[in-house]
Amino acid sequence: MVLQEAMRLHPPFWFENRNTTTEVELGGKTIPRGAMVAFSRYSLHRHPDFWENPDCFDPSRFDPENRNNPGTSCAYVPFGGGPRVCIGRHFAMMEMLVIVITVLQRYQVSVHTRDRHKMSAKLTMAPKYGLLTSLKLRL
Ligand code: HEM
Repeated sequence: MVLQEAMRLHPPFWFENRNTTTEVELGGKTIPRGAMVAFSRYSLHRHPDFWENPDCFDPSRFDPENRNNPGTSCAYVPFGGGPRVCIGRHFAMMEMLVIVITVLQRYQVSVHTRDRHKMSAKLTMAPKYGLLTSLKLRL
């Protein structure tokens, strides 16, 4: 649930684009055939029409017991969707889980929040100035 919520607020691959195969009407606008349509996954994942308190980190949104669990919603697409959905999504989530568990078993982690961190949006999204973090060995 924590990883899913992290992928909502900070989708590494933050935008998506598709080319239209026919002329299409979208939001009252006509988009010609062959045009490239790009959208921000980052904005979709924080859109108030689809998310309550969109900027709040709340892993319980993804509680499987929650009837409104957004895990399969079209407003939650950290790995894309449809026939071209990320082929490595399950591997990536498993890899993240193993890394987080391995680190947390050995260390207490604290992130320095002195400076609100800024994101850098290039092909992927990442902390612009890194993320100053302290690790304390668990005894
Ligand atoms: C956090 C890690 C990852 C993220 C956020 C991510 C995200 C994405 C996204 C958004 C797409 C585009 C889906 C679309 O066009 O609808 C994609 C496609 C793809 N991803 Fe990933 N991915 C991740 C890890 C991986 C891994 C580990 C692999 C391989 C082991 C992988 C292999 C692929 C491939 C081959 C495609 C192209 C699929 C196609 O066009 O049919 N990805 N990924």
